[in-house]
Amino acid sequence: MKISIKNLEPKLSQILPLAEAYMRSYNELSRQYKTDEEMKLYTKSYFLRKLWNMAEDSESCVAVLNVNDKPVGFVRYSQVPEYYKNPQNNQSRDVEKGYLDGYEFGWVRKLEFTRDVKLDDKTLIVNQIYLEPELQHHGLGTFLLSRTIPQLRQQGFNSLIIEYNAHNTNAEKFYRGVGFSAFAKTQDFDHIIEKDGKTNFCISDVEIAHTTIENAIKCIKLKQSKHSKTSLVGQKNVSASR
Ligand SMILES: CC(C)(COP(=O)(O)OP(=O)(O)OC[C@H]1O[C@@H](n2cnc3c(N)ncnc32)[C@H](O)[C@@H]1OP(=O)(O)O)[C@@H](O)C(=O)NCCC(=O)NCCS
Repeated sequence: MKISIKNLEPKLSQILPLAEAYMRSYNELSRQYKTDEEMKLYTKSYFLRKLWNMAEDSESCVAVLNVNDKPVGFVRYSQVPEYYKNPQNNQSRDVEKGYLDGYEFGWVRKLEFTRDVKLDDKTLIVNQIYLEPELQHHGLGTFLLSRTIPQLRQQGFNSLIIEYNAHNTNAEKFYRGVGFSAFAKTQDFDHIIEKDGKTNFCISDVEIAHTTIENAIKCIKLKQSKHSKTSLVGQKNVSASR
């Protein structure tokens, strides 16, 4: 198996197969806790648009994992939002405004901190990490982090946070294994759906976890050495061009 990591670029030959992998990964996961009505909104064009916007966004960085030259997953990092940095009485908030599903909305996003962590300009947020379902649980997610996190350290960053759906026990276990631990909670909404003449926000509970980059690198090495005999991710045929 040939494994490589590349930057996401605004070109269809990369984005199209990646959108298909992203859609399969997201939809397999979300089906467990989203309604059928919500699921209808997660079409291929939804994922294509999302990836295209990510590729054109100069504020974030997306590393694409390729297996045998085919894009099969990605991780995206960006600066931690400002309102994370100075909680008052273990809380902080931000007002989000925009257009979604044909509606104009205003949403107060409230964070509840359960412990103190230092978040500043050297902190990044892992916005997304998604892999093709049939390639999960073979060490590729860990590999993608192992190849990207040390580069973030070289660029001067020293900690990471990640937000995940509170029902996503697989992701929670994965993040714990690579060094993250929970420090805050919030709620998000993904869609606005009209039902029985009313507009409803589709709300989900979100956990937020933190790790220093030093700790993540240590935990990832430990995890990889535990699996070295059974891993699909051999050291041969592995390359990174970012
Ligand atoms: C979450 C996700 C990115 C993790 O990637 P992955 O490739 O499945 O993860 P890994 O295989 O590296 O690690 C998962 C498990 O596989 C096992 N594993 C098998 N071979 C391994 C290897 N060679 N190296 C490391 N772990 C290995 C580990 O025990 C690990 O167990 P853990 O979860 O208890 O730590 C992936 O499962 C995914 O895309 N899930 C759906 C989308 C999702 O939930 N994204 C996060 C949204 S916030």
